[in-house]
Amino acid sequence: MYTEEELGEVRDTLAGKRKLSTQEIEILRNEFRDNQIPKWMYPFVGLFATNLDLYRKISGDARAQKYSFFGFFPETFDLVYGSEVSPEISFDGGNRGLVGIIKHPTKKVVVKPTQNSREQEVAQIADELGIGPKQYTSISGFLTEQFVEGELFSMLRGDRTSADNIYHLGRRMGEILSKLHSREIYYNDDILTDDLGRSHVIIPETSPAVLFDYGVALRLDQHPDFSDEEVYNFARTLPMVGMFLGREPSQEQVQSLVQEYRPKLQIATKQQIIARDINFINGGLTLATYRLGNHIVEPFLRGFKETYKFPANNKL
Ligand SMILES: Nc1ncnc2c1ncn2[C@@H]1O[C@H](COP(=O)(O)OP(=O)(O)O)[C@@H](O)[C@H]1O
Ligand SMILES: [Mg+2]
Repeated sequence: MYTEEELGEVRDTLAGKRKLSTQEIEILRNEFRDNQIPKWMYPFVGLFATNLDLYRKISGDARAQKYSFFGFFPETFDLVYGSEVSPEISFDGGNRGLVGIIKHPTKKVVVKPTQNSREQEVAQIADELGIGPKQYTSISGFLTEQFVEGELFSMLRGDRTSADNIYHLGRRMGEILSKLHSREIYYNDDILTDDLGRSHVIIPETSPAVLFDYGVALRLDQHPDFSDEEVYNFARTLPMVGMFLGREPSQEQVQSLVQEYRPKLQIATKQQIIARDINFINGGLTLATYRLGNHIVEPFLRGFKETYKFPANNKL
């Protein structure tokens, strides 16, 4: 088991709060130059220089081997280290890096590295608005959120795609986007489905649909002052940009995109920026017809138009 103090040290290491001196970096360089360690130990390497005993303790910890750093979060530690029943863990994730899904009979949570510096804030607002996963106490640099159980929009089957159900889903999506937009949040990503059938909308059996993954969302409250990160996130989801960006663009590519798009973003009004979320809805709806059928378009848009309120000038 770990003492409170050790736990604090592990968490500071994961959060990147424990800055290493040049001497400590040298120690790590010497040790790990040709000394292979298993992948699950990577998040803990800093401890080799800052607390060798703790590093060794984790190396020999079978649970750390299974859960890696995902077992050290405020919401997961007791499930992993203090419970008779071990939680199940599975992994997911694309652009943001490894996402851990931890399921225990008492609680199901998702732990994910944040993808932009304001994601925690935006995910928190989405939770408060009742449209995003519940947010729990986490470690800086990571979200810990409710695992929402249900079917993805793109994978709906049977009578869940009936005209009536799709109409109500359209209404719900109009409500979700109205609420986000009224708080000056531009979602900026595929919503209903992408070309591979991935969706950011989960539809539980008995509660309203939820929109998750605020990894490239932009909060427009500082408009027209945008950070480089925000300009880049705005640019990368433009169809003609995204298509030509590889999975891991170089620093030069990122910088030249920022230079090209900063002036374009600065002269765009907030309304013009958030209006692109409606393009994401329309594009995703068209793609979704390949899986769900053409019959979904009319009822979805009828519902969506009934509830979606484009924020007036004075609201943004
Ligand atoms: N709160 C959640 N509830 C249920 N599944 C989730 C949740 N968050 C993420 N997932 C699953 O993990 C995958 C990756 O998470 P996501 O936040 O979309 O990260 P990425 O930026 O890598 O796309 C999602 O496609 C989904 O299948
Ligand atoms: Mg995603």
